[in-house]
Amino acid sequence: MNVLFFSAKVYDRTFFDAANSTFQHKLDYLEVPLNCNTAVLAKGYEAVCIFVNDRADAEVLQLLAEQGVKLIALRCAGFNNVNLEAAAALGMKAVRVPAYSPYSVAEHTLALILTLNRKTHRAYNRVKEGNFALNGLMGFDLHGKTVGLIGLGKIGLVTAKILKGFGCRVLGHDIEKRDEFDRVGIEFSDLASLYAQSDIISLHCPLTPKTHHLINRKTIAQMKTGVMLINTSRGALVDTKAVIAGLKSGHIKYLGIDVYEEEADLFFEDLSDRVIQDDVFMRLLSFNNVLITGHQAFFTSNALESIAAITLQNIADFEQGLQLENEVKA
Ligand code: NAI
Repeated sequence: MNVLFFSAKVYDRTFFDAANSTFQHKLDYLEVPLNCNTAVLAKGYEAVCIFVNDRADAEVLQLLAEQGVKLIALRCAGFNNVNLEAAAALGMKAVRVPAYSPYSVAEHTLALILTLNRKTHRAYNRVKEGNFALNGLMGFDLHGKTVGLIGLGKIGLVTAKILKGFGCRVLGHDIEKRDEFDRVGIEFSDLASLYAQSDIISLHCPLTPKTHHLINRKTIAQMKTGVMLINTSRGALVDTKAVIAGLKSGHIKYLGIDVYEEEADLFFEDLSDRVIQDDVFMRLLSFNNVLITGHQAFFTSNALESIAAITLQNIADFEQGLQLENEVKA
């Protein structure tokens, strides 16, 4: 099948070209993101392959349909950037990669927690400069701390297992209660108790209208003073301005994020020679107890191999008229 990639990076090309040797699709790559200005470039392609910050809203989907596109293949798990009702109305299908490596994101979550706690990023720079002073580097034992996880799906569960290995007490909240939670040793909790008891809170639920700004002024007020907040899920789960207020007052003592509400204008690009216009983001960067990574939690070779193989299989299934195992519907 003819497939046009948007927002394609060198690493996408490397992994997709390698995986395509068993599929023989015709893959073309564009660096530009998908939006209402670029959708017309898909003329003659039956499928487009898009990533987290490509916009497939009603207007863009209409333009894609006019070019002959019938399939939106997401090379990621989240699908909050696709208007599924509009796609269905246009007779288009959408597929995603529901699971590739939950370890990649869960392990990055731990990287954020450990870096914020033990300040290895600051220690690295100090030691390089011959500064061996320890002032300002003190952390705490993770052992015995209470960690609250919101969303106990694939990534939340792996995160819970790792944290149990550290000797943490793990509270978890989800909209569904599953037997597996007990087996992992998670104490199922309502949100109010999770907020009240957790030393560290980590978000692993999807972005939906219900979870939009789940972390806001009201919910932050219910958290322990000195809480560490981690978000490797989706930026808009968090009201960034409310979090900044929490950081300024000291209520939130540490913030680790791999995702940001307005990341589409920033992440995945080298902007180091430009002036960043997003004042909220720049305020976040100014805190020494905030650690930001640019949506890299998924970025392991294992995950990329898996994403490429599953995406190309999704496209092959569509081409052959097979049941679409990884279809996302409104
Ligand atoms: P999953 O679908 O396996 O798990 C999501 C869990 O959240 C489910 O158990 C679901 O019941 C629960 N949930 C749904 N609504 C909820 C609510 N209102 N409150 C509490 N729980 C709720 O998804 P998976 O693979 O664990 O991924 C989780 C999220 O991680 C994805 O939605 C995606 O946004 C994000 N992600 C981030 C990546 C990164 O590179 N930073 C990479 C991959 C995923």
